[in-house]
Amino acid sequence: MYTGLLHLHNLLRWVILILLVIAIVKSLSGMTGKKPFTKGDKKIGLFLMISAHIQLLIGLYEWFFGAWGLKLIQKTGMGEAMKEPAYRFWAVEHITGMLIAIILITIGRGASKKNISDQAKHTKTFWFFLIAFILILSVVPWPFREAIARPLFPGM
Ligand code: HEM
Repeated sequence: MYTGLLHLHNLLRWVILILLVIAIVKSLSGMTGKKPFTKGDKKIGLFLMISAHIQLLIGLYEWFFGAWGLKLIQKTGMGEAMKEPAYRFWAVEHITGMLIAIILITIGRGASKKNISDQAKHTKTFWFFLIAFILILSVVPWPFREAIARPLFPGM
């Protein structure tokens, strides 16, 4: 079951990144073109938030029950884990960065439900989603990140 969830965690990364790109481009074009905030815009934000929350649940499961979260800290001690960049990435950086990004996505999507102008909705979603996007890119274990490299797609 762990491997299956890890594969899902890997794939959901792409779903989240693609939805973020679509939402960012749409809100930017809504901002600059003074377009209405449509039902479609709202739906993309909803799907994005649902995907991010599922990713969070799977990530928490991996962090608490896999080899690269709590068990790693228990095995090496927090001090050692912080000294070794690869351990620090898994014990602290990935979870913290992703948690902040998921909070930003949740706040950004919340803006679409508020009683504010369509322009304000586009502006808020744009900035919250853009910062979340950059943060996620910086804490994904991309294949080119030597000590923490993970595959682009499951089973590669
Ligand atoms: C948008 C949110 C997230 C994205 C895009 C993301 C992305 C990834 C990716 C691509 C991997 C490598 C998967 C593989 O080896 O095939 C990974 C592994 C992992 N992630 Fe995340 N993650 C996210 C959120 C989280 C959160 C919130 C946590 C913890 C609460 C977490 C904990 C982990 C752990 C522990 C692993 C390593 C699991 C193992 O190899 O046994 N992730 N993540």
